[in-house]
Amino acid sequence: MSTLIKNGRIITATDDYIADILIEGETIVAIGKNLAENAERVIDATGKFVMPGGIDPHVHLDMPFMGTYSSDNYETGTRAALFGGTTTVIDFILQKQGNSLQSALEEWSGRANGNAVGDYSFHMAVTDFNENTKQEIKTMIEKEGITSFKTFMAYKGALMIDDRQMIGLMEEVKKHGGMINVHATNGDMIDYLVQKHKEEGKLAPLYHYLSQPEITEAEASERFVDMASYTECPGYIVHLTCEGALNAVRNATRRNQKMFVETCIQYLILDASLYENNFEGAKWVMSPPLREKKDQETLWAGINQGLVQVVATDHCPFMWEQKLMGKDDFSKIPNGHPAIENRMELLFSEGVMKNKITLNKYVEVSSTNAAKIFGMFPKKGTIAVGSDADIMILDPKEKHTLSVSTHHMNVDYSGYEGWELTGKVKTVLLRGKIAIDDNKCQLEKGYGKFIKRNKVTQHI
Ligand code: URP
Ligand code: ZN
Ligand code: ZN
Repeated sequence: MSTLIKNGRIITATDDYIADILIEGETIVAIGKNLAENAERVIDATGKFVMPGGIDPHVHLDMPFMGTYSSDNYETGTRAALFGGTTTVIDFILQKQGNSLQSALEEWSGRANGNAVGDYSFHMAVTDFNENTKQEIKTMIEKEGITSFKTFMAYKGALMIDDRQMIGLMEEVKKHGGMINVHATNGDMIDYLVQKHKEEGKLAPLYHYLSQPEITEAEASERFVDMASYTECPGYIVHLTCEGALNAVRNATRRNQKMFVETCIQYLILDASLYENNFEGAKWVMSPPLREKKDQETLWAGINQGLVQVVATDHCPFMWEQKLMGKDDFSKIPNGHPAIENRMELLFSEGVMKNKITLNKYVEVSSTNAAKIFGMFPKKGTIAVGSDADIMILDPKEKHTLSVSTHHMNVDYSGYEGWELTGKVKTVLLRGKIAIDDNKCQLEKGYGKFIKRNKVTQHI
């Protein structure tokens, strides 16, 4: 099947021009002015922005967590992502302590294979680093194409590893050309503060926020960067939220190490005042928690300074009934919030339309940088001859309102109910096929493909 996208304004991380795009099968084969109109399908993109499909490198689909499962599975989650212009996601496999990485990979592949609508890849979360796990790192990188390894410095007693394990893992991952991702908050301090608040009878969602002050994130971020510098292992800090943490990274990385930073859309546009409305605040109980206005300013500035390279979601939705598990105890509220469908439009409306970032920066942080950092570029993350035809066509003028009544995520509330946005995703292509058009998904479950990724050393 051939497709011609005519007359759109093509925006990549570096370019901005009006041209036509010719797609044959899954691939972009030509870009130019006035390409011949003999394709089987012609899409008129006049007046629209034509951008690379979004890449969200931080999602949790069908994830066992805090006594329940995140409510979007691979089908509903990747379909919702497509509705919002995101064509590829990277999810986190969680090793079960005492079990192998391979068995965790099999479990996650079983959930994803044949179910995903959009393309996906995996990070491997190492929750138990030992002699056996060590032997598996090379295979994960070289055979399975899983080149990034997630670590948790928090969730004590569940997912957290200690610094001894961290250093050992870093050395092994570095040796084989991989990267360490980290949830960087001080698990012991948080554990102490959670217990303290509970003993004092402080049980509302507000105390989730007060149990994870900025210093817990700043301290752990700096410690992580120091360990990565010592071991010379490339690092990537997920969901960084605040001024203290970014400044710690800024200082530590003056040693010229390879360190990347991701924030998430919610930390740029929501703040901790949402925790003041009693249990309603559970909608935004996530870790780290939402922060202050001054942190939002730091994060926007960090993006423009190139210190923050990626805006993801940490999409981890739970139904309201699941959130109610923590009605009488904030520490039992499943952590996470839904955004996989909203990220691209929120970032466009709140970032580009409010002059906080340029169009090129928008593409960079929503797609291109993730493709580069995680070894998928230039197959993914750009519009170029030879790249996968993963394309989002956006009407920059159309206004719309976010709501649970219109979203496609499998969750019964929206963290952005009633938000009025400018700029709407109209058509999405995934590897040359129309995924979304006229507000309908045209792909079946199972179309989504697992993307093997390159080693870090091959692409940075
Ligand atoms: O609250 C969050 N972030 N839930 C998902 C797990 C994680 O820490 O990323
Ligand atoms: Zn996390
Ligand atoms: Zn996460």
